Amino acid sequence: MKKLVIVTHPFIEESIINKTWIDELGEHPTVFEIHSLYKKYPTLEFDIEAEQSLLSDFDDIIFQFPIHWFSTPFALKKYIDEVFSFGWAFGPGGGKLAGKQIGFAVSTGGDKESYDSGIPLPDLLNDFKLSFEFCGCKVGKLHAFYGAMNEPTDQVILENAKAYVDAFLPITTEANA
Ligand SMILES: Cc1cc2nc3c(=O)[nH]c(=O)nc-3n(C[C@H](O)[C@H](O)[C@H](O)COP(=O)(O)O)c2cc1C
Repeated sequence: MKKLVIVTHPFIEESIINKTWIDELGEHPTVFEIHSLYKKYPTLEFDIEAEQSLLSDFDDIIFQFPIHWFSTPFALKKYIDEVFSFGWAFGPGGGKLAGKQIGFAVSTGGDKESYDSGIPLPDLLNDFKLSFEFCGCKVGKLHAFYGAMNEPTDQVILENAKAYVDAFLPITTEANA
């Protein structure tokens, strides 16, 4: 079954890391379904029912985004606030996300050392992770690119993109799936 990749990046045309990630994921169209929130909803007026229906169709969901002000881009917060609704994601009649496997792919401007000596990225994303766990999801891998602001080489960026795809490729390869 395919994995849904929900991309939240407000300026994807100017992106280097997330754009390279999307290109690399796009090499595996039978594995990854890319859903870009800003592309589908430029004004961020989400179709809640359509989004809930889409989420229901996938067991594995990856949230991909750059860190903005030590958090997710606000569009992703809005998405969760609105789509993970009472009576659907939680509460009476809820639990529709229960059991889903969640992964994260996150890029940062700051380097790994500055995160690790301050608040490590997994800790920074803890509130975000808690929201999924509250909804009964299983939170798994976090793939990261650190130091986008340090002029990384094309090779470093491409190797990271390949590592991202490898981390989330199923054990069975596309050839023998
Ligand atoms: C509004 C804004 C806020 C940002 N805040 C942070 C931050 O708090 N920490 C950080 O490490 N990088 C921060 N950055 C840098 C981005 O995380 C970085 O440019 C991005 O991950 C690179 O990915 P891209 O090439 O796909 O855009 C910020 C960038 C923008 C535009």
